[in-house]
Amino acid sequence: MKLISFEGIEGVGKSTQINLILEWLTSKGLSSKLVREPGSTEFGEKIRELLLSKDYNISAHTELLLMFAARAEMIKEHLAKANEDIVLCDRYYHASIAYQGYGRKLPLDLIDSLIKNINCPIPNLTIIYDLDVNLGFKRKAKDDIDRIESSGKNFFEDVRKGYQQIANEREEVVILDASQPIEILNQQTKDLIEPLI
Ligand code: TMP
Repeated sequence: MKLISFEGIEGVGKSTQINLILEWLTSKGLSSKLVREPGSTEFGEKIRELLLSKDYNISAHTELLLMFAARAEMIKEHLAKANEDIVLCDRYYHASIAYQGYGRKLPLDLIDSLIKNINCPIPNLTIIYDLDVNLGFKRKAKDDIDRIESSGKNFFEDVRKGYQQIANEREEVVILDASQPIEILNQQTKDLIEPLI
């Protein structure tokens, strides 16, 4: 099984790219499944609702730990026993580094320790779609925004910088310019995945 995760701030077009890749993998006769974080298990989807609800003003630590609680369930149910050729993750632990680490300013070594102690499988490839924060906000302007999306422009500037930093530091993490047309971005995404399949 190959594990590929997709990351980026809001409005980068991640879901569009993931869906195109799923179709492409199927057309090649490969089996695949898509999981999203937080969520993808019955328990994890309940945690997701709590995390995104504007009814609670939770602390950054609570946010981080709930992300990892949902993640532990997702790993147990989906990654530990995956028999598909490819598992695609719509966000994974790099989102915790970018959002809770760089965005909320929680210690990066705390997050690293959670990643290691929960035994998060390391993805074979992580693709980060990078986009100007204002452009991302514009693309999402018509959507209802959840608690995390309401965190403001400065927060998302920090998250974006975090993702850029992660890509600089890790070989298996690649950054793509999400301001390009969908078809070009799709081709670049396929070019990254092709060597793995
Ligand atoms: P989504 O909108 O891509 O489904 O993700 C839900 C939100 O959760 C999104 O704003 C990013 C955020 N998030 C974190 O803050 N930390 C994490 O570890 C993950 C997986 C998501």
